[in-house]
Amino acid sequence: MGGTSYLDFLAKFGVGGAHPGGILLTKDILSQEEISNNMLILDAGCGTGQTAAHIYKEYGAKVVGLEINPIMLEKAKDRFHSQKLPIELVEGSVELLPFEDNTFDFILSESVLVFVDKPKALKEFFRVLKKGGRFIANEMTINTELNIQDELEIKEFYAIDSLLSEEDWKELLEKTGFRMIQLKEEKQSLSTGNNTPEFNFSTTFEPDLFNILNQHGNMIIKYHEILSNRIITCSK
Ligand SMILES: C[S@@+](CC[C@H](N)C(=O)[O-])C[C@H]1O[C@@H](n2cnc3c(N)ncnc32)[C@H](O)[C@@H]1O
Repeated sequence: MGGTSYLDFLAKFGVGGAHPGGILLTKDILSQEEISNNMLILDAGCGTGQTAAHIYKEYGAKVVGLEINPIMLEKAKDRFHSQKLPIELVEGSVELLPFEDNTFDFILSESVLVFVDKPKALKEFFRVLKKGGRFIANEMTINTELNIQDELEIKEFYAIDSLLSEEDWKELLEKTGFRMIQLKEEKQSLSTGNNTPEFNFSTTFEPDLFNILNQHGNMIIKYHEILSNRIITCSK
């Protein structure tokens, strides 16, 4: 893959709603939760900030966006600044959250856990969530056992350390202490319908990133039976 990766591609193309289902699915999931304007909400691994902006505009809640990638941070900053949204942006890692215990009422993390040390990040989410607070994620999940070659191909392409089944996720969440755990399958749709992805291109980027885009498309087709996402909802 040379020096570029899937996450570089997302950052330099400035893909907003960079998770299966995009912002439409996010809106749908959030509408089923009880969110009020006196809540403090964390969008962990917020990317270019599309979801964080939606939460502020829709619910008037206090929103914090956390990101590790400087290009994503810059693009989220531009979005919040140009739309005059008072959303706090924090540079940091979900594996070591720069927040006190029991800080947030609600934590959302869309397609981030899959790229990090999952037990570590989940422990951190649990720690900074208030008792009774909600945690929601949208994560890549394997539907069947994989042969070693396929497993390697997926792990290498997305630079991830492990692929979890629905049962694996459930076990890990339970082990972390979460309760009321629910996982709902979200079938990847090849057609995005009217859910057009949003782009905010960097002024310069490696031409190789177009290959990554292509390869990502091929992976979705090749593994459409094996990989799909789960909407994870649970409480502390
Ligand atoms: C697939 S993108 C999703 C971005 C955003 N949540 C969205 O749905 O548009 C994954 C994001 O996780 C971020 N990320 C990866 N590792 C991280 C870490 N250790 N801490 C915080 N963010 C991380 C990446 O920089 C990227 O923005």
